Amino acid sequence: MNQAEKEEYLREYGILKSEGKPFFPYAIAKDSLMAVIVIAVIIAASLVLGVQMGAKVNAATSSYDPRPDWYFLFLFEILRQLPVPDLVGLATIGIPTLCMILLFLLPFYDRSPERRPERRPVATFSAIFVMGAMLFLTINGAEAGTPYQLIFKTPSSVIKAGPAAVAKFEGGRLAIAESGCEACHTIGSNGNPGPGPELTAIGARIPAKGIAKTLVNPTYPMPSFKRLPPKKFEAIVYFLSQLK
Ligand code: HEC
Repeated sequence: MNQAEKEEYLREYGILKSEGKPFFPYAIAKDSLMAVIVIAVIIAASLVLGVQMGAKVNAATSSYDPRPDWYFLFLFEILRQLPVPDLVGLATIGIPTLCMILLFLLPFYDRSPERRPERRPVATFSAIFVMGAMLFLTINGAEAGTPYQLIFKTPSSVIKAGPAAVAKFEGGRLAIAESGCEACHTIGSNGNPGPGPELTAIGARIPAKGIAKTLVNPTYPMPSFKRLPPKKFEAIVYFLSQLK
């Protein structure tokens, strides 16, 4: 901005300032009045319409899907993609807090009088980048499978073996998803990379009998699954023995 522009700007600003009303108390009073009205409407609506309750809590559920409301899905996705548990605090509290502080301090470090987006490349790019990243993370978070789901193509050998085999395989898929194996094992694109070994092609390494033995009598920290209902247990063993 050159000197002439600056003087022009200051003159206009002086005129506006002498004609207008100060922000405090006029604008603040208006905003406060509006805030009171909004809160009064919410209180009235909750008194008249009542509070909407969700389904009753079932403490015994084994298929609860921990998932935030859509506007937090981007944070959820960051957390989900974190490869290192030690970084959870940094990613979920550190980075958002830093962004808030940067936004709060914006008037202090960005003193350019320009308002056109194309004349403010850094600010424009930053805003588009942040919004794009949030949109991308939100979509990915919304599409993420639940931890109680096992997304894995049914092997063609199982499909060839007939509908009974497919049904057993599907039973195993569900039983594994419900048993929490994915907390410690990777199966295809599902689960966590440890502490247990990857099971994606376990059937090629260990025969069904060996898998059953591991489930009954595992090495710490893997819990024993010998108390599972026999049908569930067999389905799990069948499922894993088919992964080759
Ligand atoms: C708490 C973590 C944990 C859970 C939950 C868990 N496992 Fe494991 N699993 C392990 C660990 C650790 C090993 C490795 C033990 C060893 O090397 O002897 C293992 C080993 C195995 C093996 C042998 C793999 C190999 O290559 O030798 C199989 C099969 C297996 N688990 C299946 C399952 C299934 C099926 C479930 C769910 C029903 C399950 N695990 C749940 C931790 C876990």
